[in-house]
Amino acid sequence: MKLFTSIFIMLAIFSGCNNYEDELNQNSTQDANLQDGKLVFETVGCGGCHGGDAQTSALGVSRIIAQIDTQRDIENALFYLKTNGSARNSAMVDVAQGLNEQMMLDVAAYVHSLKL
Ligand code: HEC
Repeated sequence: MKLFTSIFIMLAIFSGCNNYEDELNQNSTQDANLQDGKLVFETVGCGGCHGGDAQTSALGVSRIIAQIDTQRDIENALFYLKTNGSARNSAMVDVAQGLNEQMMLDVAAYVHSLKL
């Protein structure tokens, strides 16, 4: 009976792990939400430095973010700035540190949607 109970507990733990992985998978690029991304862009005021349509080099040092090749490259740039800082201008590091992972995915999708 004890053995049965511990097997049951182990199964419960394993299925718990699977659910957790499913949740993580939901955070992949495919599930970035464009509308939420627009909201992040407007609320944080990314346009103040990058231009309302993301077509301006921020403070004269950044790339034109709407023209970055892929959505994933934009996410990576944000993640890099958040975790490693920047030698060029720390204003963006403060911004990036205020974004969680889902916000980065969403805002990257929105910025990418502005690509000409
Ligand atoms: C206060 C001005 C300012 C605001 C607001 C701002 N940025 Fe930036 N951003 C910069 C600067 C300056 C850089 C260049 C940083 C560096 O590389 O040193 C940058 C860099 C970036 C990069 C990387 C571009 C590159 O050259 O590789 C991305 C992507 C980006 N910003 C997105 C955003 C998003 C999205 C928001 C809003 C959530 C935002 N920024 C808000 C100033 C700003």
